Amino acid sequence: LQHSLETPFEEARSLPPDAFTSPAILRLEVERIFDREWHCIGRLDEFDEPGKYVTLQIADEAVFAIGDRSAGVRAYANVCRHRSARLLEGRGKAGRIVCPYHGWTYGTDGALVSAPLMAPEFDVSKCRLPQLGVEIWRGWVYVNLDRDAPPLAPRLAAVDEELANYHLEDYRSLFVTEEIWDTNWKCLVENFTEAYHVFVAHPDTIEPALPTRLGTYLPGGEGFYRFTQKKVEGIAFDVDKGAGCLNPRLSDDERHTYPIVGIYPAHLMSVSEDRMFWLALQPQGVGQVRVRWGVAAYPGTIADDRRDEQAAKIKAVLDAVNAEDRGIIEQVFSNMSSQFADSGRLCPLELCLWEFNQYIARKLCGA
Ligand code: FES
Ligand SMILES: [Fe+2]
Repeated sequence: LQHSLETPFEEARSLPPDAFTSPAILRLEVERIFDREWHCIGRLDEFDEPGKYVTLQIADEAVFAIGDRSAGVRAYANVCRHRSARLLEGRGKAGRIVCPYHGWTYGTDGALVSAPLMAPEFDVSKCRLPQLGVEIWRGWVYVNLDRDAPPLAPRLAAVDEELANYHLEDYRSLFVTEEIWDTNWKCLVENFTEAYHVFVAHPDTIEPALPTRLGTYLPGGEGFYRFTQKKVEGIAFDVDKGAGCLNPRLSDDERHTYPIVGIYPAHLMSVSEDRMFWLALQPQGVGQVRVRWGVAAYPGTIADDRRDEQAAKIKAVLDAVNAEDRGIIEQVFSNMSSQFADSGRLCPLELCLWEFNQYIARKLCGA
């Protein structure tokens, strides 16, 4: 890893296989990345009513975020203050958070409101759920295990400017889903950093509309990488292009451009004038990653009475694309344990991958 920090891009190689398979490296990642960085949990519109919640796993920590009347969204450790039972599962809506073990009950503000059959001197008002940092950026909800972490937004200033006209905060969720992939989380991030593989791995799905040759690298920053894909006129990657551009703030150039952005460590998105496809990754050990992903649409691009039908069609297209990637990157991870696996020379089209590797190396080497 140190070596990768010292090598210029022209001579750069991929990370060594151990970086993906070693439990010791994962422990370092937990300590220096997952315990400290901002993690995307999903879209703010998933919390549009008090009590709506989403659970997630940030490395070793089970946490949840929940809509709260006074604060918008709050996040907590998913650990009961009595004897540490898991409070919430999956996603859903809960007016009160009731522990499934002995029924201790918390409000969405984290305060313990009742604890059945406890001795009279037990004072519920002295007990609260451990609260985590929450930040909202452009309609995304991020949580941080470290309540003293510096804010996320300043690290995203350059990408915020690039995306400003898209007004990502206006996009509304069409669907959100979850899958477990048998690969290292970094293999999935790396796959999303480059369009080099598109003409080979996605010849019939992505390549006709968003070809490898129309990708352009843009310099990233401390907290993100980015590149753009131009689309080929007249060929829709998506289904049923609707009424044309409805976002009056986009320039002509922006309307034909898909910005692709990765916010470190593990939030990935591809944006267009009418849709946004996103993934938020949660590592589960070295060889598994929980993938929360979804699509949000710019307002008005899908008629209300056709939302479900369109969501199903768009999901089917993206399921096909994901299946193409998944088959390959699950094998990539499996091959990382081969005695013949080695790091390989990077292609000029893998500049964003190199930036992501530099981020990992910086964090793990403490530079
Ligand atoms: S562990 Fe939650 S009420 Fe006992
Ligand atoms: Fe891909």
